[in-house]
Amino acid sequence: MGQLETTNVLFVCLGNICRSPTAEGVFREFVRVEGLHDEIVIDSAGTGAWHVGEPPDQRAQAAAISRGYDLSAQRARQVRSTDFEQHDLILAMDRANYDDLHALCPIQLRDRIHLFLSFARGADVDEVPDPYYGAGDGFQRVLDLVEDASRGLLDHIRAR
Ligand code: 4NP
Repeated sequence: MGQLETTNVLFVCLGNICRSPTAEGVFREFVRVEGLHDEIVIDSAGTGAWHVGEPPDQRAQAAAISRGYDLSAQRARQVRSTDFEQHDLILAMDRANYDDLHALCPIQLRDRIHLFLSFARGADVDEVPDPYYGAGDGFQRVLDLVEDASRGLLDHIRAR
C-alpha cells in the first residue's frame, strides 16, 4: 500500500482570533464527521502578531459553540515563512490577507494561496467581513460564510 497522502490546509486572517479560528473549528468538525481526519491536516494563523498566544475572541467562541463548534483549545499564532511549503491550500479570509500572504510567499508557491470564499457556492461576497469591531451579529455572518465555503472546500479536496 502506498503512503497515505495528506492535504494540509491553513486558514489565515488578520488577528487569528475571529475568522480563521472559526474556519479551523468548522472545517475540523466537517472533516471529523466525514472520517477524514487522517487525510486532512488543519491549522490557522494571522498575518498580524497582536494576539499571539491568545484563545479565540469570546464572541467568536460563543457564536461557534451555539452551532456545535468548540474553539477553546486554539491559540493564536502568526504566519511564518515555513507555512508556504508546509501547506497545500492557504486560504485567506479577505483580500488584504491574500495580498499580505502573496507578498510573503515564495513565487513558486503562490498558487497555493486562495480566497477562502472562492470555494463557497451560496455566498454573494468573496471576502469574510472582519467582525472584530462590529456588532455581535457579525460573528453569525462569519459562521454562515465559513460553513458554505467549508462544504465546497471539502468537495474540492475529495476531488483532488
Ligand atoms: P480576525 O479579527 O482577523 O478575524 O482575527 C481581528 C482580530 C483582531 C484585530 C483585527 C481583526 N485587531 O486589530 O486587533
